[in-house]
Amino acid sequence: MPSLNDIRKTFLDYFAANGHEVVSSSSLVPQNDPTLMFTNAGMVPFKNVFTGAETRPYKRATTAQKVVRAGGKHNDLDNVGYTARHHTFFEMLGNFSFGDYFKAEAIEHAWKLVTKEYGLNPDRLMATVYVDDDEAFALWKKIAGLPESRIARIAGADNFWSMGDTGPCGPCTEIFYDHGDHIWGGPPGTPEEDGDRFVEIWNLVFMQYDQQEDGTRLNLPKPSIDTGMGLERVAAVMQGVHNNYDVDLFRNLISASVSETGVAAEGEALPSHRVIADHLRSTSFLIADGVTPSNEGRGYVLRRIMRRAMRHAYLLGAETPLLPRLAPVLVREMGDHYGELKRAEATIVETLRQEEERFRRTLGRGMNLLDDATRNLAEGGMLAGETAFKLYDTYGFPLDLTQDAVRAKGLTVDVDGFETAMEAQRNRARANWTGSGEKFVATEWFGLRDQVGATEFVGYEHLGAQAHARVIVRDGESVSEGLVGEALQVVFDRTPFYAEGGGQAGDTGRLSWQGGEGRIVDTQKQAGDLYVHHVEITDGILAVGDLVHLEVDGDKRTTTRSNHSAAHLLHAALKRVLGPHVAQKGQLVDAERMRFDFSHGAPLSPEEIERLEAEVNAVILQNEAARTELMAPEAAIEAGAVALFGEKYGEEVRVLTLGHALEGEGRFSVELCGGTHVARTGDIALFKIVSESGIAAGVRRIEALTGEAARQYLLEQAGVARALADQFKVPVAQVGARVEALVNERKRLEKELAEAKRALAVGGGGAASGPEEVNGVKLIARVLEGVGGKDLRPLAEDFKKQVGSGIVALVGVLEGKAAVTVAITPDLVGRFNAAELAKAAVIALGGQGAGGKPDFAQGGAPDASKAEAGLEAIRAALV
Ligand code: ALA
Repeated sequence: MPSLNDIRKTFLDYFAANGHEVVSSSSLVPQNDPTLMFTNAGMVPFKNVFTGAETRPYKRATTAQKVVRAGGKHNDLDNVGYTARHHTFFEMLGNFSFGDYFKAEAIEHAWKLVTKEYGLNPDRLMATVYVDDDEAFALWKKIAGLPESRIARIAGADNFWSMGDTGPCGPCTEIFYDHGDHIWGGPPGTPEEDGDRFVEIWNLVFMQYDQQEDGTRLNLPKPSIDTGMGLERVAAVMQGVHNNYDVDLFRNLISASVSETGVAAEGEALPSHRVIADHLRSTSFLIADGVTPSNEGRGYVLRRIMRRAMRHAYLLGAETPLLPRLAPVLVREMGDHYGELKRAEATIVETLRQEEERFRRTLGRGMNLLDDATRNLAEGGMLAGETAFKLYDTYGFPLDLTQDAVRAKGLTVDVDGFETAMEAQRNRARANWTGSGEKFVATEWFGLRDQVGATEFVGYEHLGAQAHARVIVRDGESVSEGLVGEALQVVFDRTPFYAEGGGQAGDTGRLSWQGGEGRIVDTQKQAGDLYVHHVEITDGILAVGDLVHLEVDGDKRTTTRSNHSAAHLLHAALKRVLGPHVAQKGQLVDAERMRFDFSHGAPLSPEEIERLEAEVNAVILQNEAARTELMAPEAAIEAGAVALFGEKYGEEVRVLTLGHALEGEGRFSVELCGGTHVARTGDIALFKIVSESGIAAGVRRIEALTGEAARQYLLEQAGVARALADQFKVPVAQVGARVEALVNERKRLEKELAEAKRALAVGGGGAASGPEEVNGVKLIARVLEGVGGKDLRPLAEDFKKQVGSGIVALVGVLEGKAAVTVAITPDLVGRFNAAELAKAAVIALGGQGAGGKPDFAQGGAPDASKAEAGLEAIRAALV
């Protein structure tokens, strides 16, 4: 029986043999497409190719594309675990024609593949076509020999496919498989179509239009083909099972979760195991593509999926985080075809572990609250929106998780009530559900790129170059010339200016031409390889076609290079010092500094920071030449280059090697990188970390300086030390000992002072006048300035000894507040009560009361100005 991996291979091999370029899956995070949250179909990476904005060296392609459908137009999240074939993550097999073949050949390939390569029984297959598509109807009859009764004409959205609210779209034809009459359901177009008997396995879209924002449809430059076959569905058919969760891959994932939890996959536990297996796939693949759980945008969708799975792990009684234990099984199953899973394994496990640990802290209490709130609700009832909001706000339960949780009891959630309770956060939350929010101007830049071609970048070798101005854009419009004082975007045929990318800032510098000059304040990249210079003209007129001299600011470039190379060295050192789970999460290098974000669960210790600095500086001292090689991406990754998850790489990538291993053979840092770097590691001169902090759950940030900036920083630090040394009049090396001695000295003096105050209170001053006598009882009554409550007890003991038989009443006054202490010698206990006397004093002082025993009591009062009145109250009580 063919495995999922075999079925994928057969598909790609078939289309490769028929002239299709096998293109590897793009990232789940769409590149160059801010309108989409996730790649939700196989055609997404080719969107600009269909519209003609982008051209590729091939006209036919085939892919197995990673797809996530959770949120947005195509959202399957709520069905997962409860139906036989919904997933948040799945693989879409597809073949594409970009203006090459159209309907006839697409149907022919599809029919041949399913019946010959996959060997499905033709009698079990049927097709649908768009209601008025007579051409497709006739082709199915002719090519597949399908009788008319097995070709259904369907109107509406089921047979008209579009990517989203905008973008390529067209009518489609679908192939259905009949699982047999032991399962309820009818063919598409019949009232029983929602049953599970007839299952769509392949959708062939005849791409003809480009849907515009205003609702109109433009014709695509050429009719094209986009097809999508869910690998898991077709695997179910070929493995003779009816449920996708029974195919080999899912069986293996579910049996791992059964053995880790000890709970069989049956009854109520079955959907839990299925949800966990599905969500494990989507979350692991998203993490491998660089998404981290957070409270907004893609990160929040990831968190929602993770937490749903984690609730099911809790339902299964898992006592420690379950998902990180299952991730290695997934990597084993799918890592051969999707190498990014293998490369990110440590990061995936670590991210899942942290999130599950974090959520488990509130999950149990949230579940209790939910149980209490739903206990008295009858089936069909509704959970209050406020409760759902509390679960969201206090216990970290995303709304859809709560809905999923109450669904098992036949309940729903009052979503309106939830929304009302969440009014304040509402707008932000909604914004998170749409695209990334960048302004979409890609088509215009792609158009310009087609006119003028890619910019030749000469900045690896040169800082200056002669170039022709090709495009000038002012206020979003292409113009033929620009004047003094205008802010322009200019494209040249070639440039030494590095465009912002890979975390390195764009170059700045100057331009000059016959009759004019200006500044370049930034450089950005558009349409893949168009370098767009942000220009301010300071003199003259710049016209399209002018020959211009471009000069990058050399000093800034030099320090930017050092900072960028140092970031690579730090990345390698982090993996060595902290472990292989460290993955780069972001980076910013410019002329001033370097900022590096990475995944790690805890703050770094001073020793770890020192080791990082020592390792990076050791490689700087090696002073080896940096080596750059051009390779195919796969070859580079095989050679050990660290790839950035979620980055898109071109046909060829630059691989940068810095330094050699600190022990043993090999190289210190190997990374894919298009940035500009030092010629030798010694050019960095010096590396110093200036801060380390946490910026999000599990993500740390290091900021560091290199070269002269690092030297200046160290000078400043040394300056502080020298100023202290001067003040203390000791050498710098002894400042530490001197400060320590001062601290000890201060402690000693404080103690002496306290003792002196006590001695003064007891022996000197008022005590010299001896005890007074009230009603035949000796009374020592004192107001003690500068003595706090906790110092009164030993003083009271001292006075008690002095008086032999009598009563001691003390009011300590410190920082405007009064503290009262009353002590009574044993012989008088019974006649007088210390607690009552203390209370009388405290009340006279404006306080509430006192506490203690018959022989000793204390209390406090806010107003020390009445201290004497407190003692007076005690005298009065004795009479
Ligand atoms: N783009 C089409 C789909 O996703 C093939 O169904």
